Order: sequence, then structure tokens, then C-alpha cells
Amino acid sequence: MNGPISAERLIAHLRTMTIGLRLICLDSIDSTNREVKRRDQGDREGMVVFSEEQTAGKGRQGQVWLSPKSKGLWMSVLLKPGLPAEKIPQLNLVAAAAVALSLDKVDSCLDKKSLVKWPNDLFLNGKKICGILAETHFRENAARSVILGIGLNVNLDAEDFPPELKEIATSLLLETGHLYNREIIAANILNCFEELYLEYVNKGTLDRTLEICRTRSAVIGKDVILSNQDRQKQARVLDIGPAGELMVRLEDGREMAIVSGEISLKLA
Ligand code: BTN
Repeated sequence: MNGPISAERLIAHLRTMTIGLRLICLDSIDSTNREVKRRDQGDREGMVVFSEEQTAGKGRQGQVWLSPKSKGLWMSVLLKPGLPAEKIPQLNLVAAAAVALSLDKVDSCLDKKSLVKWPNDLFLNGKKICGILAETHFRENAARSVILGIGLNVNLDAEDFPPELKEIATSLLLETGHLYNREIIAANILNCFEELYLEYVNKGTLDRTLEICRTRSAVIGKDVILSNQDRQKQARVLDIGPAGELMVRLEDGREMAIVSGEISLKLA
């Protein structure tokens, strides 16, 4: 179960039409997001790159993503959604919803326990277990490609986390006490993701994604700190709107909608 991810074994669990039809499993790479960018030559979507470790895993806001060898799922998916720029941020929610659903499927004891911290983190028992980094490359006003990076802490031990992350991050192993098969989880993520992604891209509906993100929200009804560069404001989260925007009420009573990526969010 702890051996390297094998494309053959993973494919046996895959039910997708396009996502994951080209699977690349590496031993070590700087970042799977960077590797997908380097390998993106054509106009087909669906390539997925996994790496056992990342030597320079990218987190949001220039942070480094801890990616120890063979302990997690460090994966990136190449998408060509052909959507206008304003419809791209919602892909973060689609991915977060897909990871949440896939965790329910791999272990009944996790059923509905992972919460989505809008727009793209997953929490388990109050600690971060998954981060998503969507990087968009534009041509004119449409996305030429979106590289969707998913980092899921699967079999990390307590010693794998540096002191500064111990209180705020966790893994499936730490929360449940057992090791997980990363190929099965990865296939589940890709299966769930394709379903929600095609609903969004082909049918134009985010309904199921929104339902998952709302019912499993880690932030709706909570007080949060909104940060934009060096400015901070406290707000109460009211809901997630129909286009995936976060609806908040500021301390002065004004209500506003935040589009993902504009502002970062911390629980107050
Ligand atoms: C975050 O800061 O929460 C986003 C983390 C995203 C990490 C994943 S791991 C796979 C992919 N490759 C990267 O370099 N980053 C993403």
C-alpha cells in the first residue's frame, strides 16, 4: 500500500471519459503544477501528473507545500474548459467538492466529516487536510488552460509535519489511525471531479457543487478575517452565492460578495 502510485492499478478504478486518460506517475519533481505546464503542448485536456514527492511544491500566496515522499497525493490535472475568465474561479469549488465526496467514498468513517473552507481548502477535525491551487493561463479573455493542483495529506505521520504546521494541518492517517491506498483515493477524486466538472462546463450548472460546498461549509455562519494585501476586515459569512461567491456581512453592516482569489480568509 505504501509503494509508488502505479498508473495501471489506478486506471483499474477510473470511470472517467477524459480526466486521467493520460496518467504520468513520477518519483520526484519540483512541482506537479509546473510539470503539467511543461508538458502541455496540445489542446487536449485530462492529463494528470502525480509525483511521489515534490521538492518545491507550490502553495497559494507563494507558500511552499509540504510534499514528503509517498505520503500524500501530490497531483495536477490539465483542464481546457474554454470558459471566460469570470467563470474560472468556480473550478476551485468544483475541485473541493470532488475531494470531499471522494473521501466519503473511501472510508465510511469519514462520511461528510471533511469540511470545505471556501474556496478551496478541506478541513478534517478543525485542521487542514487538503489544499488546491488552480493556475490559469489565459489567451485573450478566455482560459487557454487551467492547471488544477491538489495536495491531499494521506499517510503523513506526526513527525512529517514541521512544528509550525502540527497544530493546523493533519492527514487521513493521523485522524483515523490507518493507512490509505492512494491509488483508490486518487481514482475517486478524478471520478468525482469529472462528474462535477462536466456538469459545470457542459451544462453550465454548479448546483451539485454548491450544495456540497454549502452543506459542508467550514465558514458559513462563522466570523472570519478577510485579508487583502495589508488590509484586514472582520466579517460574518452569510452564504455561498449562485456563482460560487462568498456572501459576507462586514462589521459596519454592509454586505458584499467576494469572488475567490480576490481575498484570503481566516477563521476569526
Ligand atoms: C494551498 O496553499 O492550500 C494550495 C496547495 C496546493 C498543493 C498542490 S500539491 C500538487 C500541486 N503541485 C503543486 O506544486 N501544488 C499543488
